[in-house]
Amino acid sequence: MKEKILVTGGTGYIGSHTTVELQNAGYDVVIIDNLSNSNESVLDGIQAITGIRPVFVKGDCTDIDTLRKLFEENPGIKGIINFAASKAVGESVQKPLLYYRNNLNTLINLLELMPEFGVKGIVFSSSCTVYGEPDLNPIDETAPIKPATSPYGNTKQISEEIIEDYVKSGAPIKSILLRYFNPIGAHPSALIGELPLGVPQNLVPYLTQTAAGIRKELTVFGDDYNTPDGSCIRDYIDVVDLAKAHVIAMKRMLDNNDTDPVEIFNLGTGNGLSVLQLIKAFEEATGVPVPHKIGQRRAGDIEKIWADPKKANQVLGWTAQADIKDTMANAWRWQCRVSGKN
Ligand code: UD1
Repeated sequence: MKEKILVTGGTGYIGSHTTVELQNAGYDVVIIDNLSNSNESVLDGIQAITGIRPVFVKGDCTDIDTLRKLFEENPGIKGIINFAASKAVGESVQKPLLYYRNNLNTLINLLELMPEFGVKGIVFSSSCTVYGEPDLNPIDETAPIKPATSPYGNTKQISEEIIEDYVKSGAPIKSILLRYFNPIGAHPSALIGELPLGVPQNLVPYLTQTAAGIRKELTVFGDDYNTPDGSCIRDYIDVVDLAKAHVIAMKRMLDNNDTDPVEIFNLGTGNGLSVLQLIKAFEEATGVPVPHKIGQRRAGDIEKIWADPKKANQVLGWTAQADIKDTMANAWRWQCRVSGKN
């Protein structure tokens, strides 16, 4: 029998790509999403790629009664992947309570219901933001956690602690905490991708919208950092590679009885790329120029961070595969589709 997985936030960017990979791997998926930052039409894209329409519940995970009803109506859920969270760093500074309520109440509700409904494991979306500005790169999972610089980052740190404390208390569940570096790109079919509402805050959606002529020019936030070309360095990971890591993590939790009850993995490529290098990779991959200028540094930005993904490579048997140029070409194909250019 197919195992059933609950994907919270499953119509969102990473959630939709992960649903595709779960279904391709033979899992049944139930999605819950409040559609606060996504659209129900994402389900059409998932269906077009996999041939299967996941069960969809429109609802808010901060409401425990909604979740209880979902578990009652969809018996046999074995695992959860929790993407349902607010994720804009700047907005979290303006609206901290929204972030604490959404991100923490959702997690607490899920954890509370897991034993009651016999759910064995939860994969949690964490972030490299928990490392702050690293003393050394690449950074592995043993590096110190630095004080969070935003309420968003703090919710990731607190969530990790909540999970650890709950498991330590003897709760009959397992968890894998996945610390993502910078997820980018879109499904190669261009049927699903990232749909930012309003002006994008993240680099790649801003870049592709600029290339498409929706934005006049991209501002590179600072070229006076202590990096080879002066712009910030990140570890950009293809969203399909990232999605596949979730499937492996879920399988490990559900099928393997000897693993630690809480495990942590960095998900990155191991390669740092600067903002200027990323722009160049896009231009080379697509032949489309990206008008850009150098601007001020953005408050709170980390200078350079990239992953040591050895633990994920060795223990999960997962390695990021995508070539950055293919990733940028996919991001562009998706942008062209959403802006009606093809
Ligand atoms: C941030 C968060 C991360 C979160 C991610 C997705 C921190 C430190 N990082 O990553 O946890 O998961 O957002 O929401 O909290 N840039 C420009 N011009 C732009 C936009 C960005 O030059 O118009 C530069 C930034 O300065 C940065 C790089 O591009 O160097 C990537 O920025 P962005 O895509 O916003 O991601 P992060 O800030 O790295």
